[in-house]
Amino acid sequence: MSDPTQADAPQGTAAAHSAVAIAVEAMNKTFPTRRGVPDVIAVEDVSFTVDYGRTLGIVGESGSGKSTVARCLLGLTPVDSGRIEVLGRSIVDAPARSLRAWRSEMQIVFQEPYESLDPRYHVWESVAEPLLLHTDLRGGELAGRVHELLEQVALSPDLAGRYPHELSGGQQQRVNIARALATSPRVLVLDEPTASLDVSVQEGVLRLLLRLQQELNLAYVLISHDLKAIRAVCERVAVMYLGRLVEIGPTDEVLSNPKHPYTEFLIGAELSVDPDVAPAARVVRGEVTSSQRPTGCVFTTRCPLVTSTCHESQPPLIEATPGHDAACILVKPESAASDLSGAV
Ligand SMILES: Nc1ncnc2c1ncn2[C@@H]1O[C@H](COP(=O)(O)OP(=O)(O)OP(=O)(O)O)[C@@H](O)[C@H]1O
Ligand code: SF4
Ligand SMILES: [Mg+2]
Repeated sequence: MSDPTQADAPQGTAAAHSAVAIAVEAMNKTFPTRRGVPDVIAVEDVSFTVDYGRTLGIVGESGSGKSTVARCLLGLTPVDSGRIEVLGRSIVDAPARSLRAWRSEMQIVFQEPYESLDPRYHVWESVAEPLLLHTDLRGGELAGRVHELLEQVALSPDLAGRYPHELSGGQQQRVNIARALATSPRVLVLDEPTASLDVSVQEGVLRLLLRLQQELNLAYVLISHDLKAIRAVCERVAVMYLGRLVEIGPTDEVLSNPKHPYTEFLIGAELSVDPDVAPAARVVRGEVTSSQRPTGCVFTTRCPLVTSTCHESQPPLIEATPGHDAACILVKPESAASDLSGAV
């Protein structure tokens, strides 16, 4: 049987010969600030890959650089340095014209469903717009494709004439997903796609995304604060803190056996809202502040396990167990037998 991850990759590109849809290496992005204030290092030395048909989750507190990664990934924000390949094409330094042409194959869904829609367009027009821009479909063929997309995202054709303000948040986000899918992308970046939706609606949107991924073999990057959503959708998860990837690996493994104190804190913070669960073992104080970037490990200002050695240099990502890396001096490769559980 042929490999489904390769069958639909774009022909004549590197992606046609590989299961890798997204490859990011040493991505860096700094935003200048007003004079006298240090520049914001939004993304620093970030690397990861995502295969066709797979989802990488990105988690981290507000300001950790998740959306900047998403925007740089699709060329919406230029990076300072690094290598980004999506569908076998280099995004860094690609001319704006090429990025526009490739956009049909790599789409993004943003957090705020209403703000992503043009209030002047009703549902049918919103879904037809990307098709008119990126395809030759017109007349009956165009109508047929719009109908198919509405069906794919489980939106009743009765809603086709409604304007965004006449839809629920869940319906608005389904229109955004239909728009993103309109041009048959191979890569979908989902930046907090369910954050502004009611809990009851979130599950439906996640189920929809999973079904579409299976049907269309899409590569997803899912940014979310919600570890439950990450567990449900992502095979792998990356944890960001102050622009750096501090842990990455298989979702089950990272969330059940975290190797970085920050990941442990995020899991503890999630559990602490559950009254039946004991509070996190180690208390992490303060909040992420890009203006007070410490020397050495980025987490020194909040880490309950910090020692003087942590201030010397930023620990690199070390493979703790196969495919599971973390950037902390307490992490040793599996053979060296050490993890956070022994550290106090
Ligand atoms: N266009 C910009 N100009 C200046 N600074 C920016 C810009 N975009 C992002 N930043 C800064 O870069 C850092 C990372 O921001 P980013 O939006 O990527 O974080 P995030 O993890 O997506 O946060 P949130 O969870 O709140 O969406 C923040 O300190 C932010 O203030
Ligand atoms: S290197 Fe030190 S400060 Fe950084 S996460 Fe590890 S123990 Fe904490
Ligand atoms: Mg964001």
